[in-house]
Amino acid sequence: MSETTKTRWSVNPAGEKFALPEERDYIIEMQRLTELTKQARARGLEIVVVMGAGFVGAVMAAVVASTKDKNGKCSKFVIVCQRPSTRSYWKIPMISRGESPIKAEDPEVEELIARCVNEDKTLVASFNSDCLTLADCVVVDVQCDFAKNDLGKMRTGEADMAALEATIRTIGEKVEPQCLTLIETTVAPGTTEFVAWPIMKKAFVARGITTEPLLAHSFERVMPGKDYVASIRDFWRVCSGCNLEARTRVEKFLREVLNTEKFPLTVMDRPIESETTKIIENSYRATILAFLNEWSLFSERNGVDLIKVVNAIKMRPTHNNMIFPGPGVGGYCLPKDGGLGYWAYRHILGFEDGDQLFKITPTAIDINDTRALHVAELVRDALRNMGRYIAGADVVICGASYRQDVGDTRYSGSEMVIRKLTEMGAEVRVHDPYVDHWYEFESQDSYPSPGQSWARFFRNQEGLKDLRVEKDLTLTLKGAEALVLAVPHKDYMNLKPSDIVKWAGKPLAIIDCFGILTDDIIREYFELGCEVKALGRGHVQRLKKEVQNNKTN
Ligand SMILES: NC(=O)c1ccc[n+]([C@@H]2O[C@H](COP(=O)([O-])OP(=O)(O)OC[C@H]3O[C@@H](n4cnc5c(N)ncnc54)[C@H](O)[C@@H]3O)[C@@H](O)[C@H]2O)c1
Repeated sequence: MSETTKTRWSVNPAGEKFALPEERDYIIEMQRLTELTKQARARGLEIVVVMGAGFVGAVMAAVVASTKDKNGKCSKFVIVCQRPSTRSYWKIPMISRGESPIKAEDPEVEELIARCVNEDKTLVASFNSDCLTLADCVVVDVQCDFAKNDLGKMRTGEADMAALEATIRTIGEKVEPQCLTLIETTVAPGTTEFVAWPIMKKAFVARGITTEPLLAHSFERVMPGKDYVASIRDFWRVCSGCNLEARTRVEKFLREVLNTEKFPLTVMDRPIESETTKIIENSYRATILAFLNEWSLFSERNGVDLIKVVNAIKMRPTHNNMIFPGPGVGGYCLPKDGGLGYWAYRHILGFEDGDQLFKITPTAIDINDTRALHVAELVRDALRNMGRYIAGADVVICGASYRQDVGDTRYSGSEMVIRKLTEMGAEVRVHDPYVDHWYEFESQDSYPSPGQSWARFFRNQEGLKDLRVEKDLTLTLKGAEALVLAVPHKDYMNLKPSDIVKWAGKPLAIIDCFGILTDDIIREYFELGCEVKALGRGHVQRLKKEVQNNKTN
């Protein structure tokens, strides 16, 4: 076989190809890293390896690499280690050039990575996990997923800890006995002490090491968006260690790398407590969002505008964190974290009565996972009121990401809306100013992992591989029969009804999923001959009658 036919490639979102490393590259790479860490130690820097260059790891690595001591001098040298898979290897050469592998709305992400790589020389990226042998501290930012086997039945799902367990095994086989390992991955409660620590202990015993591995846990609260970096560095953290030394070490490390003076650190006795903090925090959020679903349907059926109700309630300071749920709850964390807790109760902690104990968290996640299906019903009903059918209708979805003004599409409600509409025969187009590639569709055979696409819960999904995210709303709307305002991106907040109808070429159905439309705008759409439906907004019917009455008088 020739060299070129043997080469495997990894392609970045911009289409640039990078050859995957071959066996001989590992030796050369380790020589490079050994030399770099030698130089870094000579500069008095501590060596930190960050495992996983994903949404969290890539930015956390840069935050650690930008750490300064009391005299304003850099104090950490970071190797961010990413496995060289065809899907993710491209992140390594990008970071090595000082470029962010993540498209972020926060300009500080690019700036920080560029500065640490090119100016401070405190950040490098590598595919060779032998770099773990050089570390004083390892930060674990690989994924730990919760795979759902049925739509709207969280209880049948299971934690997928393969990547995390493999990473912990490798760490146990390679690190020096005094190296601190910090798990930042959101894990099922009990994982650090009852899964990861035993794996590391076993590996230490096999290597003849007599001391206990130093293992700690401190979860991330990172928030994609315009404050991405600050959500890691300038934010309250919780930590704990498997033993006293690990706890003391992790506390010291976090106080050095994060802004703990302004954002105090909470130190817990045991990792299961910090793990449970994260799981409850996100289950609570998922629950308060799910809670409004029944009131949203109540409002639609009884002439109530839930948006105004929520705003009125939020005037009370004790209730001011109430949030309108939109078309479900996406993002990487809220749809899965409660599932990790439910699963751990049985499979790590050994209790059989999980179904008696856990009533609210599973129900909340199930409600959130299926709320978007109702949007497809609203599209169907709006078209029907205009004498049209959903089958064959041209529908434009505005917004692909899971929340406003970010480009993160993971588990977004819009995906569910599109899959359901497609199942019902609609022809769907999508527009989003922040998203270039919607991998959940483009790569639905392998993303988020083989066999795990939501496509499996619907019929008629094959063609969605060709769905591309449009950037020109004027062109996207041409000929549209329905427009779904799925995400309140700022670009969608002030659209003029007359423009929308002009671009579409005729009156169309408008479906508001997020309280985007004001009452005056809704009236204007009706005046132009459009039909309007909205999640949780029963007063729309009243506005429609008002416009009709004004026309006849
Ligand atoms: N993204 C968020 O908004 C967010 C917020 C808070 C917490 N978290 C948690 O942080 C963790 C990481 O999330 P993420 O969004 O960064 O995930 P991600 O999928 O973007 O990144 C994980 C990375 O780890 C790499 N990886 C897997 N196994 C590896 C190995 N053995 N060696 C080296 N690299 C390996 C993967 O290839 C991938 O690049 C998760 O537990 C998540 O729940 C994420």
